[in-house]
Amino acid sequence: MTVLIAGCGDLGTEAGLRFAARGHRVVGWRRSAERLPRPIEGVAADLTGTLPAVPPDTTVVVIATAAGERTEAAYRAAYVEGTANVLNALERDGVKPSRILFVSSTAVYGDADGGFVTEDTPADPASPTGRMVLEAEQLLLGRSAAGMVLRLSGIYGPGRTRLIDQLTRGTAVRPAEPQWTNRIHRDDAAAAIVHLTTAVGQPAPVYLGSDVLPVDLGEVLQFLALELGLPEPPTGETVTTRGGDKRCDSALLRSTGFDFTFPTYREGYRSVLAGRGVRHG
Ligand SMILES: NC(=O)c1ccc[n+]([C@@H]2O[C@H](COP(=O)([O-])OP(=O)(O)OC[C@H]3O[C@@H](n4cnc5c(N)ncnc54)[C@H](OP(=O)(O)O)[C@@H]3O)[C@@H](O)[C@H]2O)c1
Repeated sequence: MTVLIAGCGDLGTEAGLRFAARGHRVVGWRRSAERLPRPIEGVAADLTGTLPAVPPDTTVVVIATAAGERTEAAYRAAYVEGTANVLNALERDGVKPSRILFVSSTAVYGDADGGFVTEDTPADPASPTGRMVLEAEQLLLGRSAAGMVLRLSGIYGPGRTRLIDQLTRGTAVRPAEPQWTNRIHRDDAAAAIVHLTTAVGQPAPVYLGSDVLPVDLGEVLQFLALELGLPEPPTGETVTTRGGDKRCDSALLRSTGFDFTFPTYREGYRSVLAGRGVRHG
């Protein structure tokens, strides 16, 4: 069985290495394919252009591309056109995978006034970029019975150290008002991709991928400051969080038998601070 990862960056590579460790052949598509580590077979491909041949025995496709900038046009090209092109290439080559998983984002929900969101919560993106991601989801689910969506909250992990960097630079500010944040460690996101595409008999169309503990941003900053031996950051006015005020509930993912290696930010950030893992370029 071959797994094709279209837009094989940090998350796609980590998932690819995990598929390969289970004995699958893994082909990774990206423009700079030479950056992909063995045993992933890198093939140079631009998802917005003509795509290479799809391996005939491809049973799983993971679409994990990202936009180069936060504009509506870049998001349309990366997510909507990229997804359509992958589906066109599958049709062109007569390949029918059993699973096509689109890596999406909880940005499709917008703001929920601090309430919980689940897969049943209507998607109502607050931003044009979120709307593009939702459009790509709908395109995939509308065109393919094999389609499925994994909506990830904020990814952190090796080399993804935005909050840690803010603290060490002394620029971190604890929001005056509580601000819910949701996150998932890169390795858990990769493990969820492998789990959902290989171990779940009849998957739902949409899963939320977020750890078990939505948490106030101030609490995370306080925890990290303590771990780093730094003073707590000052409280002040901050720009509203990009993720909107919501709490992501990933009970459906857990109900499939998925266990988080890093159930909360505490285990995850301790692993990052200990220097475990690498960010794939
Ligand atoms: N960051 C977050 O907190 C977050 C939250 C929720 C969801 N997500 C989603 O998670 C997914 C993966 O994120 P990531 O961190 O792994 O991103 P990443 O490391 O930037 O990987 C994306 C990869 O896509 C490739 N790519 C971009 N445009 C392409 C094109 N036109 N054709 C072919 N390949 C293209 C890039 O490689 P080349 O430049 O070599 O082509 C890059 O390696 C994305 O779908 C993102 O929306 C992220």
